[in-house]
Amino acid sequence: MADWWDAGERLGRAELRALQLERLRATLGRVYERVPFYREAFDKAGVRPEDCRSLADLARFPLTTKADLRDNYPFGMFAVDQADLRRLHASSGTTGTPTVVGYTEADLSMWADMVARAIRAAGGRPGHKVHVAYGYGLFTGGLGAHYGAERLGCTVIPASGGMTARQVRLIQDLRPEIIMVTPSYMLTLLDEFERQGVDPRTTSLKVGIFGAEPWTEEMRREIEERCAIDAVDIYGLSEVVGPGVASECVETKDGLHVWEDHFYPEVVDPLTGEVLPDGELGELVFTSLTKQAMPVIRYRTRDLTRLLPGTARPGFRRMEKITGRSDDMVILRGVNLFPTQVEEIVLRTPGVAPHFQLRLTREGRMDALTVRAEARPDATPDERAEAARSIAAGMKDGVGVTVGVEIVEPESLERSVGKIKRIVDLRHTP
Ligand code: DLL
Repeated sequence: MADWWDAGERLGRAELRALQLERLRATLGRVYERVPFYREAFDKAGVRPEDCRSLADLARFPLTTKADLRDNYPFGMFAVDQADLRRLHASSGTTGTPTVVGYTEADLSMWADMVARAIRAAGGRPGHKVHVAYGYGLFTGGLGAHYGAERLGCTVIPASGGMTARQVRLIQDLRPEIIMVTPSYMLTLLDEFERQGVDPRTTSLKVGIFGAEPWTEEMRREIEERCAIDAVDIYGLSEVVGPGVASECVETKDGLHVWEDHFYPEVVDPLTGEVLPDGELGELVFTSLTKQAMPVIRYRTRDLTRLLPGTARPGFRRMEKITGRSDDMVILRGVNLFPTQVEEIVLRTPGVAPHFQLRLTREGRMDALTVRAEARPDATPDERAEAARSIAAGMKDGVGVTVGVEIVEPESLERSVGKIKRIVDLRHTP
């Protein structure tokens, strides 16, 4: 046990479980008393907060969905008076009504503690400079990272997303040790370093803390090699708190330890909602254990993963790197496919850059998928043709689907400045 671990990280499994049960019972009681939505949902399911006598009893309580948050937009899920709120964040709402989340002072403090813990787990220490290139604003990435880094005693460079050329300049001049950014925007930054004739391996950066979107081991290797840093994963969602729900430890890089003293994870069968044993792949569900303003009970994340025993922080369980979210799953002639599977194949293919897009079209009554990958600037026509063959074969053999592959010109695919959108759905465009 390292002497810089906080009290939560020092808890043994049994102590942690006792604390979780105590916090869970308090949270269930609070929402039953203060949030009409939960009171009605519990009554309908025939459960009362006091029925939760063990952690396993949580399975008797109803699941909560994004639709429930939308139906109660904007303040219906809150358990405190509005005067006690210190911050609101909101989802972009591109897929419907936005969802709003709120924080009390205590919530903001807990959140900063969890992000500080994540940065420490990644190797960050007081005195380090942290370049935050997650977007600032209603998105939780920028401000979440910001206050966590300050809490740890770091110096924050609040760059936010965009103005890529300036970011590269700032990294060279201000010499941060740590960068926090989406992995796809990190690639955009790396391209910009190279465009300016700077070898990204020569920067001051030592650690990158990447999240907000799925990314693969192949992407980790690509980033680590191109800029000589340790790349670790950070996970979170605004409904639960924002970044800092789970995070990877730099000494093992073997999946994300869930900060279970504040966020209780379950994995359920996405179709039946049944709780699955640890080790099985399913949909991740979270119950907040200490949040005041907007507690969530059994919130369905739609993210797919499995729970595994802890390693670098033995008290906490790990979640495997996220395979994908159910919303991003493409069903192609009966085969389920996630963009991460394509990422693995494209990033292993010589001759193409790590930039790709998935185009869905309809041919007659059948859906068709085209993988568009960008040629490396130095790739010869033969190498491009070989890359196309190799990606198509990888998709056929590895995933079991026949896809079209287009190798497009260097720099022709749109670059990410935040969360990347991999799928372009043209099925309903005439
Ligand atoms: O993306 C919070 C965040 C900011 C996390 C910065 C990490 C870093 P939302 O915008 O609410 O919040 O989106 C949450 O993003 O349900 C996942 O589908 C996806 N996601 C977040 N982190 C990861 C990750 C922020 N490390 C949704 N791996 C989640 C895979 C992730 N997917």
